[in-house]
Amino acid sequence: MRICVIGTGYVGLVTAACMAEVGHHVVGLDVDQTKLDNLARGVMPIHEPGVEAIVLRNMKSGHLTFTSSYVEAVAGAEVVFLAVGTPPEEDGSADLSYVLAAAREAASHVRRDCILVTKSTVPVGTGERVETVVAEVLSGRTDVPKVAVASNPEFLREGQAVNDFLKPDRIIVGVVHQDDAEIFRRLYAPFNRNRDRLVVMDRKSAEIAKYAANAMLATRISFMNELAMFCDATGGDIEAVRKGLGSDPRIGPHFLYAGIGYGGSCFPKDVRALMASGEEHGTRMHLIEAVHDVNQAQRIRFVQAVLDGLEGIDEPRVALWGLAFKPETDDMREAPSRGVVEALLAHGVRIRVHDPAAMDVCKGLWPHDERIEFVDSPEACLPDADALIMVTEWLCFREPDWEQVESLMQGRLLFDGRNLYGPATMKARGWDYHGIGRNGISST
Ligand SMILES: NC(=O)c1ccc[n+]([C@@H]2O[C@H](COP(=O)([O-])OP(=O)(O)OC[C@H]3O[C@@H](n4cnc5c(N)ncnc54)[C@H](O)[C@@H]3O)[C@@H](O)[C@H]2O)c1
Repeated sequence: MRICVIGTGYVGLVTAACMAEVGHHVVGLDVDQTKLDNLARGVMPIHEPGVEAIVLRNMKSGHLTFTSSYVEAVAGAEVVFLAVGTPPEEDGSADLSYVLAAAREAASHVRRDCILVTKSTVPVGTGERVETVVAEVLSGRTDVPKVAVASNPEFLREGQAVNDFLKPDRIIVGVVHQDDAEIFRRLYAPFNRNRDRLVVMDRKSAEIAKYAANAMLATRISFMNELAMFCDATGGDIEAVRKGLGSDPRIGPHFLYAGIGYGGSCFPKDVRALMASGEEHGTRMHLIEAVHDVNQAQRIRFVQAVLDGLEGIDEPRVALWGLAFKPETDDMREAPSRGVVEALLAHGVRIRVHDPAAMDVCKGLWPHDERIEFVDSPEACLPDADALIMVTEWLCFREPDWEQVESLMQGRLLFDGRNLYGPATMKARGWDYHGIGRNGISST
C-alpha cells in the first residue's frame, strides 16, 4: 500500500520504517529540515535500538523516502498517518495545533480517496475536529476525493519501539464506518499473521483507550510510590511488597516499581491531558489528579532527600548515573533527572554525569555550566565524588564493581532512585544508602 507518515519523530520514524520493512511504500514527511538532511545522510534523529538498520535498508531499496513536500508525500497515498507532537498547553490540555495544521495541509494535497489516521495521542473528539478541518479544505476544491478520518493510537515503548511495532500486543482502530476497518486489515496484515490483533471500535473509544492505558500505567507507578513513602515511614521494604503484590495473577508484576516518579514524553503529558479533558466535559477525574499529584511529590521528595544528604558537605561533588527518562532512549522530555540536575546546580553542587545516549540532548538543554561535566563512562563520574546518584537504570549501571567505585569516590553516600542496589549489601560495605521505600530495613 502507499502510505504517508506525517512527522518523523519517535512514533513517525518507527511507523514509517516498520511499514516499509513489511513491503509498503512509505513517504515520511517532516517540517524539520535538519531531521530530513540527517536522514538523507543516514543519520538517525533519535536514539532507538534497531531503527537505523531498518531505515537504511528501506531507503536503499526505495521503499522508504523522506520529504518536506506535502505535494510529494500525500498525493498518491491511500493512508496518511498523523504522527506529529501533541505537547501540553499551560493548563495541561493537549496542544492540537500540529495535528490540525498537518491535517489541513494533508487535505489540501490529497489527490485520491484515502484515509487520514491520527496516530498521535489526541483527546476524545479530535477525530471530529480533524474531520471538520478536512471538510473545510475540501469544500474549496473542485475535485473532491473522499477522505475518511480514523484513529489508530500508538502503543510503542521508546527503547523497544521497533519490536513493539513489528509485534504489537494489539492494534486499536477507531472508525466511523466499518468499511474503513478493512483498510486497516490490509495495512496491518503483515503484523497480524499468527493471531488477529486488530481491535476495532468507534473513533471516540479508540481515542480514550490510549489515554486509559497510559493513565493506568501511571496509576500503578504512583500507587507504588505512595506505598514506598509508607514503607519508609513504617520500616517496610517496598521491594518485598512489590514481589508479594505482583505475584497475584490478578495484579501481575508489571509497572510496580517505586522510583523517582514517572517522566518521559507520554505519561506526564497524557495524565494531565486526561485531567483537562475530564474538566472540559464536566467529569472531574479525582483519581487521575491524585496520580499526578503523587508523582510530582515523589520527584520533589527524591531531590529533597539528595539535598538533605549533602547538607554539611563543603563544596559537594556528585556522580550522577543516567539522564534519559528511561534506559535505551535519548528522550529527555520531562525526565526526572532534569529536576535533580537543576536543584543540584542551584545549590552549588558540582556534577559529573554519564548517560549512554542522552548527553548530547542535555548539552543542548542546559546552558554551558562549568559545574556540570559530561563524561564518557560510569567510572569517569566517580573520582572524588561525595555521593553517587542513580537516576536511570541503564544496563551499564546495574552491576558496578563496588571495590573500584569505593577506591575512586571520596564519600559513601548513595541515592538509589531505582532501587537497583540492595540496602543491606550496601550498608554492610559501609555506605549511607538511600533507596525508595527501603530505608530502615535489612533486605539485600
Ligand atoms: N514517543 C512515544 O513513545 C510515543 C508513544 C505513543 C504515542 N506517542 C504520541 O505520538 C505523537 C508523536 O510523538 P513523538 O514522540 O513521535 O513526537 P516527536 O516530537 O518526536 O515528533 C513529532 C515530529 O512531528 C514533526 N512535525 C510537527 N508538525 C508537523 C507538520 N505540520 N508537518 C510535518 N511534520 C510535523 C516534528 O518536526 C517532529 O519531527 C504524540 O502525540 C505522542 O503523545 C508517543
